Order: sequence, then structure tokens, then C-alpha cells
Amino acid sequence: MRDPNSEIKKLEDENLYRAVRYGTEETGTNFCLNDKRLINFCSNNYLGLCSHNRIKNAAKKAIDSFGVGSGASRLVSGGTLPHMIIEDESASFFNKESAIYFSNGYAASLGTLGAIVQENDIVIIDKLCHASLIDGAKLSGATLRSFSHNDLTKLEKILTSSRNTKKKETRILIITEGIFSMDGDSPPLPEIVDLKKKYNALLMVDEAHSFGVCGNKGKGILHSIGLEKEADFIMATFGKSAGAAGAVTATSKIWKDLIVNKARSFIYSTAPMPSQAAAASEGLKIINGEEGDIRREKLKKNITSLCNKLEIETSEAAITPIMIGDESSAINLSNDLIDHGIYAPAIRYPTVARGMARIRITLSSDHTEEEVMHLANTLIALRRVN
Ligand SMILES: Cc1ncc(COP(=O)(O)O)c(C=O)c1O
Repeated sequence: MRDPNSEIKKLEDENLYRAVRYGTEETGTNFCLNDKRLINFCSNNYLGLCSHNRIKNAAKKAIDSFGVGSGASRLVSGGTLPHMIIEDESASFFNKESAIYFSNGYAASLGTLGAIVQENDIVIIDKLCHASLIDGAKLSGATLRSFSHNDLTKLEKILTSSRNTKKKETRILIITEGIFSMDGDSPPLPEIVDLKKKYNALLMVDEAHSFGVCGNKGKGILHSIGLEKEADFIMATFGKSAGAAGAVTATSKIWKDLIVNKARSFIYSTAPMPSQAAAASEGLKIINGEEGDIRREKLKKNITSLCNKLEIETSEAAITPIMIGDESSAINLSNDLIDHGIYAPAIRYPTVARGMARIRITLSSDHTEEEVMHLANTLIALRRVN
């Protein structure tokens, strides 16, 4: 039986208690907390699109044309033009036959996995994959196996044992991410594709943090290495670089058909607001256009400046984890950062493993060089005294 009093007390004692902080301004590079203006270094607003006028106007226009609520599940009362458009645009962007748009990435993971695997199937997932993918795999009823982060030897071992024990009709699905959300690194995708082929498995790649940021036109990690055709399912969320909300699974027509007919988070949920789909579409257009190129270039500059100053390896990812270890030190550092005008909460268990607490820095193309340098200098100064 859950006991809120003792459980909350335990969370507090273990430095794992969390509470929502409410800002008072639109999402951008500032977070206004109790009248104190902080520089926001923790949002996934990588391209600064969350409050972009084009996206705001697209949402407003869709409200004028299609109203606010969707009224029911799309399978009941039908979809609207913005739902259809975002799916067509996403399919072509990710070079797939089709795509299905969900309310958010969590719903996309749960719905997609519940539709594409079932009992007697085997899901093999990187240990550091997002909670939504793990939850989706668990809910699907398939056998869930996990491999140590980016460990190809372990992955192949599981593939071998799965092949040896599986029934004829068993499907094997490998899941990984384009950029890992809490570590900012990427998997060895060419080798994973080789293994997928060798063991006749399916591959799903969640590009939540690489979409918009990596590769030509922000098409993600798979596209940047010419392997998007090899992934059977590409997931991407619109709440991060696209500055809106929702998520798509891009795949073949027949798999989409099955997802429409089996994904419980799609079937048994009111469709996302048409204005949300229209905002996502506008975000995608910006990502895919000249402005996206300019913003990606600026983001890259910011990533390079931060990494150079902190003397860490530069990558394409806009996520830089500052590893701390114990939870209370991470909380202390985060509070000290607030005192220096910087907003970046401590990331702790269960989002990451116990004793692996960190400050997860995320950069935006809208951060100025001065803001990035202020962050770097503050981190250097505080870590010296901590
Ligand atoms: C890797 C990854 N996948 C999926 C999601 C879920 O997406 P959403 O926030 O749209 O629900 C997230 C969000 O935090 C994520 O980091």
C-alpha cells in the first residue's frame, strides 16, 4: 500500500524529492522564478522555436479554422487537415512511406510499442533509453531484455540467445536513441544496423533529441549517416527542437495501418488539438528551411564555445551532462547556479541511476555567447569550490 507521508519523507531524506517550479514568462532563454530572471539552461528548446512568431501564428490560424478541441479520438470523429498534413510532412521528412502523429512522445512510445510487438516477441533495449520506451515495451507484453549502454557485445549476446530460443513467429525488436537524453551521446548505429540485419530483427530509433539538431536540415542522426532506410521505426517529438508538441512514428504504410488499429494511446485518447498539429508543422517547416540552417549553425557555435571552455569533447548534441554523483551535491550545485542567475535543476534517480546525479545542461541557438560564457565560467568557479 502506498503511504504518501512516509514516501514523501523518504524522498526528502534521500535528496530525491522534486517539486514543480512555475515560471511567469513565455518559454525562452530566460526562466522567471519568483521575480528573479534566470538564464534557462535546461529546456529542450534547442532551436529557440517555443515562442517563435511563425509557430504562434500557425497555432492561432488553426484555432480560427478548426476550433480548439478535437472532440474525440480520430478514429471516432475523424481527424482534421493539420493532423493529416503533419503526418504527410513527417513521412517525407524522414524518408518513410508514412507517419502517425500522437499527442506527445510518451504516447507515441506506448502506442507504437503496444502495436508492433506483443507477448512472445522480444524487445532488446539500451539500458539508458527513455522511460517511455521502457514503459511501452513493458506494457506490450513482449519479453524485455536490456543491454548495457551502447555495448554491442552484450547486444549481440542477447540477440544470439534470443535467436536460439525464439519460436518461428517471434519478432525481435532493437530499440535505441539518436542522442541519449541524459548523456548526450549517440549509439554506434552502423554496427547496430549490421546486427539487426544479421539477426533479422526490427529496429526502432527515437530521434527525440537529434531531430532538428543533427544532420542536414536537422533530419537526425540516422539520416546524417545515410541509414534512415534501415530503421523500421523512427520516432521524433515536436516538443523539443520543433518548439511545439506531439510526436510521430515514421514507418511503412502497413505498419502505420497496424499502429492506427492497435495503438491504445491513439485509439483511446482524444486527438491532439488541430492547432498543436499545425504548430508542429510550422516547427518542421522552420527546421527544414533556411532559418533552421541558421539556427543550427548558431547552436553548433554555442556547443563548441561551451565544450572548449569546459575542456570537454565537442559533439553535435545540445546536451552536456555535468556529472556530480551524489544527489545532495547535485542539488547544492543547482542552487548555487540559481544564485548566479542560472537555471539548471539537478537530474537524479530515477531519471538516472542512484549516485549518478548530474546537472544536465542544454543549449539553445538563442543563447548569446555572453550567456554561454557566464555558464561556463560559473561552472568552473563553483566546481572548484564545491
Ligand atoms: C528520448 C525521449 N523520448 C521520448 C520523450 C517523450 O516525449 P514527450 O515529451 O513529447 O512526451 C522524451 C521526452 O522527454 C525523450 O527524451
